[in-house]
Amino acid sequence: MNERLDLLIRNALVIDGTGAPRVRADIGVRAERIVGIGNLGAAAATRVIEASALIAAPGFIDAHTHDDRLLLSDPTMTPKVSQGVTTVVTGNCGISLPCSPARSAAIPPLDLLDSDGGWFRFPDFEGYRRAFDDAPAAVNAACLVGHTTLRAATMDSLDRPATRDETARMRALAEKALAAGAIGVSTGTAYAPAAAATTEEIIEVCQPMATLGGVYVTHMRNEDDRILDAMEETFRIGREVGVPVVISHHKCVGKANHGRSTETLALIDHTSAAQEVGLDLYPYIASSTVMQAVRAKQSTKVLVTWSKTHPELSGKTLTEAARSLGLNEEETVEALKPAGAIYFMMDEVDVQRILAYPATMVGSDGLPHDAVPHPRLWGTFPRVLGHYARDLRLFPLETAVHKMTGLTAARFGLTDRGVLRAGAYADITLFDARTIADAADFEAPTRPARGIHTVIVNGTPAWADGGATGARTGQLLTRG
Ligand code: ZN
Ligand code: CU
Repeated sequence: MNERLDLLIRNALVIDGTGAPRVRADIGVRAERIVGIGNLGAAAATRVIEASALIAAPGFIDAHTHDDRLLLSDPTMTPKVSQGVTTVVTGNCGISLPCSPARSAAIPPLDLLDSDGGWFRFPDFEGYRRAFDDAPAAVNAACLVGHTTLRAATMDSLDRPATRDETARMRALAEKALAAGAIGVSTGTAYAPAAAATTEEIIEVCQPMATLGGVYVTHMRNEDDRILDAMEETFRIGREVGVPVVISHHKCVGKANHGRSTETLALIDHTSAAQEVGLDLYPYIASSTVMQAVRAKQSTKVLVTWSKTHPELSGKTLTEAARSLGLNEEETVEALKPAGAIYFMMDEVDVQRILAYPATMVGSDGLPHDAVPHPRLWGTFPRVLGHYARDLRLFPLETAVHKMTGLTAARFGLTDRGVLRAGAYADITLFDARTIADAADFEAPTRPARGIHTVIVNGTPAWADGGATGARTGQLLTRG
């Protein structure tokens, strides 16, 4: 280290993101890269962080987000940076801000990105990319393009399979987006605007990935009784296009299906021998999305997260909302729409079994524009590190970190991210292994996590001393 360092992190317990055991070492940073890890004691540095009581890990990569708009509308990205997240994967569940037409605000679940509509102004990926580059966020973003979005952009009615011509137009849009830097295509066939899409339609729209590369990411058609069929469809799409697949927020929904993660993980095991299969999970037994009668029926409890018609009922249970409206619960669901909800519908045993599965990445699936959001938006990463790894001893801390860094970067093809080594980008999260914990819960869902010390994005601290620094050094990441 002859040349002066910009930043020296001294004497940290380094967990490098590969799953390897921690080692005590210094980390040297110059500009936006790590230039050395080891004993750098004598090196001169502009800024020194004394880290002997801290873990230094790669900045966390949120494998599953709906932050497409938050990156632009609230670029400090506090819900994520406060958890140690330095990169978000956007455009999940078939819905992306890039390529969405103006009418998307009236199409659930696209309205999760913006229920008022002013942000649906990026008819192509290049425009979105320019907007990000002109006014970067505090974190990096890697963007999927959504199939539901492409349907809304090319079809007049969404309750039917696409025609040949419409499929060709979607395919052309997907190709343009991938060429402009999108890292893959997502689908959300569980939702009405994509439910009528055939497997063949999806394969055709995804086809440009065969040459341009990418990942096929899916909120599957079914996560309850017919989940195995939905998984087989996912694997077929991956095989026919020749790309890795990621099963989004893997879960077994509804009482009758609790415990079936033994079957689904066995199927993933079996399939992984022949093709690349990944999955992500948020560490809670409740899901969250737009208000839907079917989901409410499958749940033991429902919380209202937002409502256009009755904003004052946000945060209430569906039962309380029904009482105050003088309606039954079914009528209340309809009366609140457009709206969002939290659904208690999973089993803790499945959550832990899936989280511990080696190929499972951590993704928040947070919904940043909900009035009273699911706590996963603010708590996911510290919850895995504190509650599941340290307190329940579900796996070593090194495994927990790998599931939110190295594993995720490899799955999405993000080079020089997700690992701490000389030459990699200096995305680094310093945290206290004894105190790290999620503080957000269903009563207080926006309480920042505890135990995050400093969060560095491309060499510059974005979070320090318990608050955002205001730095916005995030980059729009592409594959390779
Ligand atoms: Zn989803
Ligand atoms: Cu999602």
